[in-house]
Amino acid sequence: MFKFDTPAQQKMVEVILDGRPVELPSGMTVAAALLGRKDPISRISPTSRRPCSPHCLMGVCFECMMEIDGVHRQACMTEVTPGMVINRNLDTQTEASHGAPS
Ligand code: FES
Repeated sequence: MFKFDTPAQQKMVEVILDGRPVELPSGMTVAAALLGRKDPISRISPTSRRPCSPHCLMGVCFECMMEIDGVHRQACMTEVTPGMVINRNLDTQTEASHGAPS
């Protein structure tokens, strides 16, 4: 899948991802950073209730929408900054929370 080109040269910063502190490369887009750590789920589709992942990585498809610092943003167009709070709301958008039949 994806991996960072020069991990030793990446300045890692701490962010909060889904309520947990994690380190991501500063200056990289949030979408690329999550793909690099093999954590590709960006959101749950409101129609299919299935996980989505960033697709185009250039601001076109909107598959990377997630809550970043309290605002829904395209993760592929948003750079990682120290202390950033990223919330994908994955646990609140499951089939069970939407009343879908099991
Ligand atoms: S990955 Fe397509 S808009 Fe972000």
